[in-house]
Amino acid sequence: MYNEFNFLGRNLFDLDDYSKDEILAILSASKVMQEVNKRSYKKLPTLRGKTVCTLFIENSTRTRMSFELAAERLSADVVSFQAGTSALSKGESLQDTVYTLNAMGIDLYIIRHSCPGSPQLVHKYSQKPTLNAGDGRHAHPTQALLDIFSIWDQLNSLEGLKITIVGDILHSRVVRSNLIGMKKLGAEVIVCGPKTLMPGYLEELYGCKVEYDLKTALKDADVVMGLRMQLERQSDGLFPSLEEYTKLYALSKDTLKWARKGALIMHPGPMNRGIEILPEIADSKQSLIIKQVTNGVAVRMALLFLMLGGKL
Ligand code: CP
Repeated sequence: MYNEFNFLGRNLFDLDDYSKDEILAILSASKVMQEVNKRSYKKLPTLRGKTVCTLFIENSTRTRMSFELAAERLSADVVSFQAGTSALSKGESLQDTVYTLNAMGIDLYIIRHSCPGSPQLVHKYSQKPTLNAGDGRHAHPTQALLDIFSIWDQLNSLEGLKITIVGDILHSRVVRSNLIGMKKLGAEVIVCGPKTLMPGYLEELYGCKVEYDLKTALKDADVVMGLRMQLERQSDGLFPSLEEYTKLYALSKDTLKWARKGALIMHPGPMNRGIEILPEIADSKQSLIIKQVTNGVAVRMALLFLMLGGKL
């Protein structure tokens, strides 16, 4: 199905750039890559001669490692930009950084930055396909694609599923991209968290339901996703204490009784164990958290393959 669409040279700033059928095509290419990753010899020659740059100006474990592994599995060369030891720390601008990297022959950029809109700037300066690996609070489309793939892979479709996302919605770029993608694929999405961690206009902007009471939000949920409490923002005084948050919103054996029996449990990571999710749930049989990470490599392989014109 993926070869019915032309992804060559396209950017991925967020999922609103892609139609429902294009997202389904990415999922089908990811399934092919998932099979490749199950082989004892996991490498394909398809992107030999291409060079990918991971331009991470904000910290990451999962996204950076899985993109680099994905590129290597497709035989692309990887330039791994380290912000802390680069000329950025001497005051070089993002524009000159990209001009410099481009002069060395980069074919595709993957950028993470604390400023929303940075991926668009990298594309403007480079004129190369650019993938957003997380820009501020705005978007994290490859995380949403791997979350959506993980559900689709388990349940075959998102159509009609009830998906509840719980946590610090205000600061989450993951939730915004997931809302766009999950709604496009026909899911009913409920977001839940304290009022002070809930941005305005979510219902109007994304067509989701907003709920402040965890029991009501979890009722009959097929999928439950916890989001990280962004501890670095506790000084903003948006919540009285972490203990209070855990008491009201943590995903635990007790609270998950309100969801559908056997509901899938997800978390994009990194997790605060014991705060938004208890280990009894994070490590349970229902949990997809480790599978999400594994699937992240396949989904990112699919994106690089499609955008750089790989052939199987
Ligand atoms: N989920 C996610 O983006 O994790 P990292 O910050 O480790 O990349």
